[in-house]
Amino acid sequence: MEPQPLLRVDHLSKSFPGVRALDEVDFEVYPGEILGFLGENGAGKSTLIKILSGIHSKDRGTIWFNGQSINPHTPHEAQALGISTIHQELALVPYLSVAENIFLNNEPRRALGLVDFPRMNREAEELLRGLGAEIRGSQLIRELNVAAQQMVEIAKAISHKASLILMDEPTSALSSREVDALFALMRRLKERGVAVVFVSHRLDEVRQIVDRVIIMRDSRRVGSLPIAEASEEKIIRMMVGRDVGLFPKEAAPVGEPVLEVRRLSGQNGVKNISLTVRKGEIVGLAGLVGAGRTELARLICGVDSLSSGEVLMEGQPVRIKSPADAVRHGIGWVPEDRKLHGLVLGMDVQENTTMAILQRISNLWGAVRQTEAKRITNHYIEALSIATPGLNQTVRNLSGGNQQKVVLAKWLSTEPKLLIMDEPTRGIDIGAKAEVHALMSQLAQQGIGILMISSEMPEIIGMSDRVIVMCQGRVTGEFVRGQLDQEAIMTCATQFLSVEGDIAEKVEAVAEGINK
Ligand SMILES: Nc1ncnc2c1ncn2[C@@H]1O[C@H](COP(=O)(O)OP(=O)(O)OP(=O)(O)O)[C@@H](O)[C@H]1O
Ligand SMILES: [Mg+2]
Repeated sequence: MEPQPLLRVDHLSKSFPGVRALDEVDFEVYPGEILGFLGENGAGKSTLIKILSGIHSKDRGTIWFNGQSINPHTPHEAQALGISTIHQELALVPYLSVAENIFLNNEPRRALGLVDFPRMNREAEELLRGLGAEIRGSQLIRELNVAAQQMVEIAKAISHKASLILMDEPTSALSSREVDALFALMRRLKERGVAVVFVSHRLDEVRQIVDRVIIMRDSRRVGSLPIAEASEEKIIRMMVGRDVGLFPKEAAPVGEPVLEVRRLSGQNGVKNISLTVRKGEIVGLAGLVGAGRTELARLICGVDSLSSGEVLMEGQPVRIKSPADAVRHGIGWVPEDRKLHGLVLGMDVQENTTMAILQRISNLWGAVRQTEAKRITNHYIEALSIATPGLNQTVRNLSGGNQQKVVLAKWLSTEPKLLIMDEPTRGIDIGAKAEVHALMSQLAQQGIGILMISSEMPEIIGMSDRVIVMCQGRVTGEFVRGQLDQEAIMTCATQFLSVEGDIAEKVEAVAEGINK
């Protein structure tokens, strides 16, 4: 007998005003299968996930689940059917605790119906530990960084007894170690017959974990390949419709130091960091999640305050007390969390792009010169190939990757001398990524210094002239281009960490609890 698919999607279509997001999409997933979804930014992947998880309603088509036609209208309904989702944009409640978020509407209770908080915290911590994350159950979500929030989101999804888990870019905020823990967990789920839909822009990860891959382009499914037949070139060609050269870091003349950081320490865990970025140089900051890289950027940009040390721009000591000071001194900062620090989602593309340069483009009376604002915005829409119906599209309605490009446009328009980029290509598709890398290379050639934080090893190795490795708030290694070696970097990145218990063993324990 033919095995029956767990989920079959038939001619699924969905439009938003002015945008066709899904056009007659067909596919199926079998129990115990990990199905990858790849496609350019705006191809329709998240829309698909949102329809399956009851957030958006479909326009046309049928969804078969366990042989029955379903049409979930709320996330709760989807969950009750056995469909659990990790969304691309984290959907946690910031002012509730980690445990409260994981067990929302599902809290363990004592007699009399009172929530059993100690048990809830304990169970949350166990789930997270199984993912290799040490996070207290009682901690508030808004106190966690993006990676930790991502781990909570994953723990939440696996805490339900689901037979299908939809994962929309679950690894985009994670570094290799957490990704390994997640993959170990996915393999255990697979053995138990749970099916996983895995959306990602990281090709190497997709090829490592999925059984089969569906490729989408322009809201249609353009291919389905067993992973053994899906070479990187083949995937990229199907996805983008052309060949793409990755990591085109070109030699740029390296000049005087633009940024010098001397013995910088802060309350946020940064300890005694010294480093230099020269004109035309791309310096990669490598390390595990939590190594203190983002915190270092926050100190330099005046978001967190220094406890000692100094910062020099072009040889002059500067006092930077706020991000506005940083802009004045020629520092652009592309933050890791675009929703929190990068963009105002309710404003349009033009307002976001020109937000940091309003003074420069205003007339004597303080009114924004509209023609100038339009010219600049159009320039970046073209330079970064931002897919938007126009300057006045609300940023919330752009796909994730295109939102990230608007953040880049906003900082590039300040014409900085130093650009600090925190995970600059997170969530960006492979074609756009090549464009962002080419742009970084171009900026370096124009003499801009770039400090690039990245958790993606191929990006660190491909783009950096020099790599500085951090672990637990300190610098633990430095490598120049030509001696870059993934293993040596990882050794430095884990220098102060004690040898951990076998992650697979912990995952086993967690998986025991799921789906029994
Ligand atoms: N709520 C909405 N209103 C209007 N348009 C939308 C809305 N949500 C998505 N879109 C549009 O639908 C298309 C598909 O978006 P979707 O988010 O599904 O893309 P994606 O494949 O997930 O992209 P990414 O890789 O960038 O996350 C895009 O053109 C997007 O701008
Ligand atoms: Mg998406």
